[in-house]
Amino acid sequence: MTWRLALSWLLLTSFPLFAAEPCESCHLETHRQFAATAMAKAARSDDFIQEWGQGGRNPACLSCHAPSGTEGVVCVDCHGLGPHPYPRLSVPETCARCHDAPGESTVRRHKTSLAARRNLNCLSCHVKPSAGSHGFIGATDPAFLRTAALLHLAVRNDLGKQILVAAIRPRTGHALPGGTTGRSVWLVIKGMGRGNAERWRETWRFGWWQGPKGEWEDATLAPDIGANLEVAEPGRQGTDWIEAELIFRFRPGPFEEPDPRQVTISKAQMTLRR
Ligand code: HEC
Ligand code: HEC
Ligand code: HEC
Ligand code: HEC
Ligand code: HEC
Repeated sequence: MTWRLALSWLLLTSFPLFAAEPCESCHLETHRQFAATAMAKAARSDDFIQEWGQGGRNPACLSCHAPSGTEGVVCVDCHGLGPHPYPRLSVPETCARCHDAPGESTVRRHKTSLAARRNLNCLSCHVKPSAGSHGFIGATDPAFLRTAALLHLAVRNDLGKQILVAAIRPRTGHALPGGTTGRSVWLVIKGMGRGNAERWRETWRFGWWQGPKGEWEDATLAPDIGANLEVAEPGRQGTDWIEAELIFRFRPGPFEEPDPRQVTISKAQMTLRR
């Protein structure tokens, strides 16, 4: 600590009144790091403003998106309102306040993940070291999204008939997609033939699913386990090779609806033997 820091530390702990000063007047670097994250602008993103407006500007939304009445999450929403010295935060309990409420199961699913058993926590994956201790990253970073899962193709024989197996193994420390209802992950498998022509196509959607009565159903991929999807007789209709793609989408709607922000997490290809 420099003498300047030491002095302000003394002032802060002896006269809590100094803590009324905005955090960024002393923690400028931390503020700069955090201000660049999606959390800091959680009540200002286009998607939020639109969805919030359509829902009649429900104040309950702000209890997570802007609990302190600003444009997003701020320092005290995690660190608390108390004065210095602040207690060390426990992770993931601090995050559970917003990431584990109804419809948010990120923290709960994390606790049963392989990552948690290996002593990795939210910060191990979600803080980009080059952006500093408060540089939280997530699904809004395409490079980060591409680490979310592995995709493998294999063919097995079942009484002389070929069965194609596509195995998805999430590398998230929670369900994939993590978080709320809107996000979805799609597996697209295409049978390809001569002339680069598509012979057949099958798609699967993972994510939260809204039922006929408006109720939400969890159809996300379980952490680490994921899913094995099967296609019978992949060689039909003159198919020579298989192309598979795992895609992350921000829009909840059908696959045909364009999503300019969608990202390919992983791709796989295999030639069929006859
Ligand atoms: C999303 C939750 C969250 C928000 C918001 C947040 N912090 Fe933190 N902060 C943490 C966690 C987690 C740690 C590490 C654990 C600990 O030391 O308590 C931490 C640690 C710190 C530390 C100790 C040194 C360091 O960098 O590890 C300081 C200082 C700090 N935060 C200041 C701030 C300031 C100032 C803001 C607002 C600009 C802020 N924090 C916003 C979660 C948060
Ligand atoms: C007058 C300057 C000043 C203000 C204002 C200030 N801090 Fe600090 N803070 C410090 C100093 C100095 C330290 C100790 C050195 C360090 O860790 O950077 C510190 C340390 C911390 C730590 C590490 C844990 C601890 O208590 O030692 C956290 C967390 C923290 N501050 C959060 C905040 C938050 C949140 C706010 C706004 C509500 C805030 N600070 C406002 C100067 C300030
Ligand atoms: C006060 C509520 C609140 C707390 C506490 C909180 N978050 Fe968040 N977090 C949010 C909201 C709201 C979003 C959505 C932001 C958006 O995309 O607009 C979010 C988004 C995120 C994202 C996605 C960022 C991206 O770029 O996609 C990550 C990662 C994240 N939080 C991690 C954490 C971690 C780790 C903690 C605990 C240290 C934590 N959060 C604590 C409310 C909170
Ligand atoms: C092993 C690495 C890992 C760990 C541990 C981990 N995550 Fe994630 N997380 C990811 C990856 C990769 C993604 C991107 C794919 C996705 O959105 O599901 C992600 C996505 C997210 C999202 C974004 C959801 C969205 O759609 O914007 C949030 C929020 C989040 N994680 C919060 C957390 C919290 C809170 C914890 C701790 C309880 C945590 N994560 C632990 C890797 C991890
Ligand atoms: C319990 C906390 C909580 C509440 C309450 C909440 N959200 Fe969220 N919201 C989150 C978190 C955390 C994320 C980050 C992504 C994820 O985990 O799915 C998020 C993400 C979002 C996103 C996508 C991110 C973005 O900004 O583009 C939208 C839109 C959104 N919420 C709208 C709403 C609306 C509208 C309401 C009220 C009807 C609401 N939320 C209530 C926690 C909450």
